[in-house]
Amino acid sequence: MRRPIIAGNWKMNLLRSEARDLVESLIRRVKTPASADIILAPPFTALGAVEELIAGTGFFLAGQNHHFEPKGAYTGEVSPAMLKDAGCQYVILGHSERRTYFFEDDAQINKKIKAALLCGLNVIFCVGETLEQREKGETQSIIQSQIEKGLQGLTGNDIGRIVLAYEPVWAIGTGKTATPDQAQEVHFFIRGLLREIFGEIVAQNTRIQYGGSVTPESSGSLLTQKDIDGALVGSASLNTDSFCAIISSAH
Ligand code: 13P
Repeated sequence: MRRPIIAGNWKMNLLRSEARDLVESLIRRVKTPASADIILAPPFTALGAVEELIAGTGFFLAGQNHHFEPKGAYTGEVSPAMLKDAGCQYVILGHSERRTYFFEDDAQINKKIKAALLCGLNVIFCVGETLEQREKGETQSIIQSQIEKGLQGLTGNDIGRIVLAYEPVWAIGTGKTATPDQAQEVHFFIRGLLREIFGEIVAQNTRIQYGGSVTPESSGSLLTQKDIDGALVGSASLNTDSFCAIISSAH
């Protein structure tokens, strides 16, 4: 059985005081033990504040990015060890906003994943196609290429510390959620790919989240799909009511 995993990617939102307010109300509202792993990914500046509050709650902390080098003259960057030191157990890598706005390619993402694993971080590895690619019928080939290149050189053991996140670019921040059937189709395809590359056990054990305009209204029907093991939530994770409702739809 794969344990559901719900992550809140706050992106570039929330000052520390706002982060504290949100986390305090989440802690009050989420019944523990929760029926899912819950991960919070604040911006770097709020990691410390969130870490203090979630100590002992069972919530996990994630960074939203890091550099692939362990240290050095990279002004403005953060290393995997720094995230670990700030209390993170996870990092989100390969997000389409990083790919699009910061020109991260598959080779860089592969280096970042390896650096994260080397440092003891777990990875949420995002893949997804654009609307244009979907309309051209390229969804599967794009996902396949992102996964093959992103996970190149990794072993089945390494995959035990990776969560896949399918985030169709056209569904992120647009209010257009993929239908449960559309999402399930791609998740099924991803699991098949993992089977081909890493074998049956890895394919069965790897959790695959869906992300892209997930709301309390859409989460229930997405999360009951056979190959959808959780959600990577953007804007709805910034609100206690909606994030709690999404968490409770995971069983
Ligand atoms: P939204 O839920 O705001 O569409 O964002 C999804 C996302 O990018 C999570 O990483």
